[in-house]
Amino acid sequence: MTNPLVALEQRAKELLDPVHYDFFAGGAGDEVALTDNEQAFRRLALLPRVLRDTSRRSSATNLLGDPSSMPVFVSPTAFHKLAHAEGELATARGVASAGLILIASMAATVTIGEITTAARKVDRDARVWFQLYLQPESKVTEELVRRAERAGCTALVVTVDSPALGRRGRDDYHGFHDLPAGLYAENMRGLPGVTGSGVRRIEMSSDFTWDHLHRLRAMTQLPVVLKGILHPEDARLAVEHGADAILVSNHGGRQLDIAPATLDAMPAITAAVAGRIPVFLDGGVRRGSDVVLALALGATAAGVGRPVLWGLAVGGDKGVTGVLDNLRTEFENTLTLCGVTALSELDPGMVIARGAAAR
Ligand code: FNR
Repeated sequence: MTNPLVALEQRAKELLDPVHYDFFAGGAGDEVALTDNEQAFRRLALLPRVLRDTSRRSSATNLLGDPSSMPVFVSPTAFHKLAHAEGELATARGVASAGLILIASMAATVTIGEITTAARKVDRDARVWFQLYLQPESKVTEELVRRAERAGCTALVVTVDSPALGRRGRDDYHGFHDLPAGLYAENMRGLPGVTGSGVRRIEMSSDFTWDHLHRLRAMTQLPVVLKGILHPEDARLAVEHGADAILVSNHGGRQLDIAPATLDAMPAITAAVAGRIPVFLDGGVRRGSDVVLALALGATAAGVGRPVLWGLAVGGDKGVTGVLDNLRTEFENTLTLCGVTALSELDPGMVIARGAAAR
């Protein structure tokens, strides 16, 4: 049985403008990292335990103090109005219905305030985190932070893997480098120096260092997650510089194509962080068993990007909830079949490389 997400993506492809489908689906360079993110999960196996009472296990957890119905979150992706007329409003409703945290992209096509309002209409306790690229002028960064705070976001996710934009062949081929007329990167509206659709201001500068993290820290009380860490030494530095969590990510294969699959980067990062802060992972998570593998290798939670976009394109908020609920069913089924009675039992001892002998 192939993953139902394959058919969902195919349906989304039929519905979407090919230029926009390629923007969502594509990656950098030869799309090696994009493909390998998914393949890495197929290279590992879980060793199940039997005859343990799994009937009372709960998948509910909390991430940086925020409730989550399972250890899964929705990673930030740009420009949801290219997928569905209601854009991020539908995504926010769909994610809130699933009881999960949405990390809203700074490059959203509705404002962060509208996103949090839409989520809270579904669930008063819905939590939204705001993804941020540090801006060349700290005044602009500060205004974005204030907008996120006013909207009631409960964490900032600072993306650090984009000192330049990855070379994305599909977008170059189509000449797709800006939003179509009528759409706007709404979080950028009214900021100094912003012209056109606001899209050109979204990249971070190449001259940022760990010092800039301290400046951000001084601006806000919100917890800060660093997104886009792959090197264990950077994970260690993130802890030392006071990050509240890190997100192991290669931007869904859209930045450095020669980067490793995120799952392959996990063991060294888990060792470097040594439990001092939560480690999140995204990239290639397509099955509930992928979430279990990520957790067993030390992740506190796993993020999904593209599958949510396919759900949004095909079915709006209900399509988003459908993708996430299906992931939950698979996640819980895998835990039960592995004999896991609590999430805290997941550890590297249950993971072996496919083809290797268990010890
Ligand atoms: C992204 N991603 C991303 N990341 C980020 O920090 N800010 C952003 O605005 C975006 N935008 C974006 C757009 C699209 C179309 C995609 C596919 C991805 C990266 C995203 O947060 C995440 O790291 C990956 O999508 C995870 O991989 P999967 O689940 O898509 O394989």
